Amino acid sequence: MLKMRANRKLCFTVAVLVPMSFICFHVWNKSDKVVAVWNREAPEDVLDTNLLQPLEKYAGISLKWKDEVLELLPKNNCKCEAEKTLNIPFRQELLGKPYSRNFTAAMEPSRIDETHKRRELEYKNFKMRSYNPTDRIIIAEANSPLQYPVQGVEVRPLKTIIIPGLSLLVLEKKNNYEVSLSCTIGIFDVAAEVDSVTIIGAGEKQMTLSSSLLNNLNRQLQLISYTNTVFHPNTADTVQFQSAGHTGTFTIKVRHPVVPKLYDVGTSKSAYNISALVTIATKTFLRYDKLQDLIDSIRKFYPTVTIIIADDSEKPQKVEGPYIEQYLMPFGKGWFAGRNLAISQVSTKYVLWVDDDFIFCPRTKIEKLVDVLEKTSLDLVGGAVREITGYYTTYRQKISIIPGDKEGDCLKTHQGYHHVIEGFPNCVVADGVVNFFLARTDKILKVGFDPRLSRVAHLEFFIDGLGTLHVGSCDDVIVDHASKIHLPWSKTKTDKEYSKFRYPKSSSASNTQQELFYFKNRLKCMTGN
Ligand SMILES: *[C@@H]1O[C@H](CO)[C@@H](O)[C@H](O)[C@H]1NC(C)=O
Ligand SMILES: *[C@@H]1O[C@H](CO)[C@@H](O)[C@H](O)[C@H]1NC(C)=O
Repeated sequence: MLKMRANRKLCFTVAVLVPMSFICFHVWNKSDKVVAVWNREAPEDVLDTNLLQPLEKYAGISLKWKDEVLELLPKNNCKCEAEKTLNIPFRQELLGKPYSRNFTAAMEPSRIDETHKRRELEYKNFKMRSYNPTDRIIIAEANSPLQYPVQGVEVRPLKTIIIPGLSLLVLEKKNNYEVSLSCTIGIFDVAAEVDSVTIIGAGEKQMTLSSSLLNNLNRQLQLISYTNTVFHPNTADTVQFQSAGHTGTFTIKVRHPVVPKLYDVGTSKSAYNISALVTIATKTFLRYDKLQDLIDSIRKFYPTVTIIIADDSEKPQKVEGPYIEQYLMPFGKGWFAGRNLAISQVSTKYVLWVDDDFIFCPRTKIEKLVDVLEKTSLDLVGGAVREITGYYTTYRQKISIIPGDKEGDCLKTHQGYHHVIEGFPNCVVADGVVNFFLARTDKILKVGFDPRLSRVAHLEFFIDGLGTLHVGSCDDVIVDHASKIHLPWSKTKTDKEYSKFRYPKSSSASNTQQELFYFKNRLKCMTGN
């Protein structure tokens, strides 16, 4: 009886107190703040044409424009015209054939207006999302008595800092000195109150300090705190610092620290432990004989490195062996989807991309590529692929995007590279490389391979990665390419089926590619060679 009562009491306690404490917990934790996290002001798209216009008082001064410099400036009116070809022998072999492609013309004419409208709407949202107040140009007015930090001030979301470097320099004697500070997503306060300084608005968005003693005011200015009050990481607060008609403007970045993603690479001291550092990733479709040749050749040199295989064959065969992971995908998912799946499963610091018809040889030294990534700021470094003809391909590309108009921007690709890398005479920096490369896993995951590109695609990845990936290429790390050039009568049944999927006759694959350029990358056309 007693026990029951005790139990009942316990029940009551649980039934009443637990929900109550939950409610209290909620109330305590509840914040009544409402923050618009979308309404960032996006900057104007076009280049400011007023930039070169004189102020009124300078309008009469004569000058002579330099066309060679004006030509170098961005103009927001790019065009794609194929380069004029000079008729020199082997031009095409040496430099490639120049071409120009119009993506607008490739779109379905009946849908183009509506597609364009949707694209521009998405583009507007993208610009608002990616805009940061610290991107804005701030001009420091001439002759200001105000001293303040121009850049580099940073605060964690909802945390507090002391603003460094604030000071007022006034030479003539005054009865009263006054400064004020204002911001939009935080509040000011002082870490200590200095004698003979009057503070108005401590704990608010606008604070005014005044004193008859300039030194006291300056001492007080060393003790100004800023607290971020609106939780909105990766943005910034713009602070205005004012005194007697002068205004200084600077930004305080609001952001979390960058959380590192580190990979444990083992303890071996003398040489790189490739098994601990690198995973080899490939995508296969039907060509199991070629894949097996690749695996056998890898094992000759790297017996314990993990190989990840993405496979979208219709009737997949099991590929077995130590340190091999085969991932089966729905039939015909395609080239980039497979690459994406394969790299998503990598858990080492680096991933080496190979095609399933490559063959490792003694010159396929992954160590060399690892060395480049370990000792430089590059994110991805390509090697060379040796064709059966003995010809080497590094496929080094320079890619640039030239500002355009409402129709879109222009993409330019060029064979070539930017510069040689110091300390690595065989390596250069480029924007795109051949499909045999070593990459930092975390960086390549950031760019990803667009799964909508199912067939012929390669350069698209580097276009998506422009601005994210720092790319290099070394021609002394070489992998062999099992024959690609087949005489029609020597093709096996698998070869024929493979070609049917990989290089389709219909233009649908090419259309997808051009539609993605048009919509996703907001390009109107491309030229290249
Ligand atoms: C592409 O073609 C469309 C229509 O076919 C045309 O209006 C447009 O000006 C062209 N764009 C470029 C960049 O050549
Ligand atoms: C290299 O790394 C692999 C995998 O982490 C490990 O099993 C092996 O013992 C390491 N080898 C050396 C020499 O440290």
